[in-house]
Amino acid sequence: MTNSERPASSVPTPKSNRRKLFVKSYGCQMNVYDAGRMADVLAPEGFDETAVMEEADLVILNTCHIRERASEKIFSELGKIRELKDEKIAQGGAMTIAVAGCVAQAEGHEIFRRQKAVDLVVGPQNYHRLPQLLRATQDQSHVLDTDFAVEDKFDFLTPPTKEKTRARGATAFLTIQEGCDKFCTFCVVPYTRGAEISRPAAKILAEARVLAEAGVREVTLLGQNVNAYHGEGLDGHIWPFERLAQEIARVPGIVRIRYSTSHPRDMSEGLIRAHRDIPALMPYLHLPVQSGSDKILTAMNRNHSRAEYFEIIDRLRAVRPDIALSSDFIVGFPQESDEDFADTLDLIEKVKFSAAYSFKYSPRPGTPAASLPQLPESVKEQRLAAVQALIETQRQSFHAQALGQVVEVLFEKPGRKAGQIGGKSPYLHGVHCDGPVEMIGKLGHVEIIATGGTSLQGRLLTGEEP
Ligand code: 5AD
Ligand code: SF4
Repeated sequence: MTNSERPASSVPTPKSNRRKLFVKSYGCQMNVYDAGRMADVLAPEGFDETAVMEEADLVILNTCHIRERASEKIFSELGKIRELKDEKIAQGGAMTIAVAGCVAQAEGHEIFRRQKAVDLVVGPQNYHRLPQLLRATQDQSHVLDTDFAVEDKFDFLTPPTKEKTRARGATAFLTIQEGCDKFCTFCVVPYTRGAEISRPAAKILAEARVLAEAGVREVTLLGQNVNAYHGEGLDGHIWPFERLAQEIARVPGIVRIRYSTSHPRDMSEGLIRAHRDIPALMPYLHLPVQSGSDKILTAMNRNHSRAEYFEIIDRLRAVRPDIALSSDFIVGFPQESDEDFADTLDLIEKVKFSAAYSFKYSPRPGTPAASLPQLPESVKEQRLAAVQALIETQRQSFHAQALGQVVEVLFEKPGRKAGQIGGKSPYLHGVHCDGPVEMIGKLGHVEIIATGGTSLQGRLLTGEEP
């Protein structure tokens, strides 16, 4: 913290003094959740959210540092925002520019050096201090706060207000854990998000209840290592993830629970059994494996083998045969040979994913793998194309299997065409069908009649009473 702190004002700001806030999030779902919290903490300071950057008094870029292209995008975006700020100043106005998220944490002062128009750099641990930091920008040109917070960063606004939550719809994110101690050799997260911490169950449940009262039916529990959750339980003992999930499933109104992102090392027997025993736990799991080669898994410090990954999948499918699986893959990691890459394709062939994300390896400064000799870009590109083609075939056959089936859909929003509504199946298919808008926020049974593009089309058979 670089400036004197003044206590946050508790007096609501009169309407005429209200200012506009524009937050743009990049990267993971944790950033989407954090953006909501930034808006929450700034509302009592007189900020209302706008979707139009041009009219904003405060622009926050909530950044991602996971791959090089993600951070470079931020600097080009900042160039454009600077022009906007200059125009505003020329017209006698003002604009404050803040950079938050993982680029803020990792690059700190470098951001001010590359883009002088930035007023504030704030790391992911420090959003609760935004009001004080903003005030500091009035007396000081470049304010930076990237300390790892000692206090509970989640405490500042838990639970969110019911009124605010209502605007967020039938689904919501809920952060239960943050940070990572695993240090995969390609990854910046342990450096930008810090050590692993779990929120106490009482706070998570309080937030889940507020969400449910406001109409949320599905929560996605978030954490960089969500299934490593080990927070203080209601009984004072440390609870594992599945115990927490069991308790969230009891919150009246919550009918669906998802979680992201998991690590294979933390797929305990208890969590696997929870997929059989907790009906609200959706039959979908994003379980990144990154590579199918034992040599590369070791070089990545993933701490498990290819055989162990297959074993987890087998155990999951034994208790929940219909579970849909997705994953992340990195191709072109240093020293990945043709054989290693063939092992990755083979793993994908064997597991059969419903979807997956794949990336070319991108050296991140400060991570161990960045100093190893790199593979040529052309090799990375060829391998990425091959992985993506295979994943696309599997995605299409996963969709094709749904044809003729009846699936339960949680409707989230109007469809693209008039008279249509859209939502998700338990397996995270996007589904559209003709239906009344009153069904939004409700569950319905839908017969799948066509596949195409990225979603399924269906016919609404029955639904919950609006
Ligand atoms: N290069 C490419 N992909 C990466 N990921 C993380 N770090 C890197 C990197 N340096 C991918 C991993 C991770 C996902 C969120 O991003 O696949 O699971
Ligand atoms: Fe990054 Fe590995 Fe931690 Fe995931 S488990 S956040 S990939 S270091």
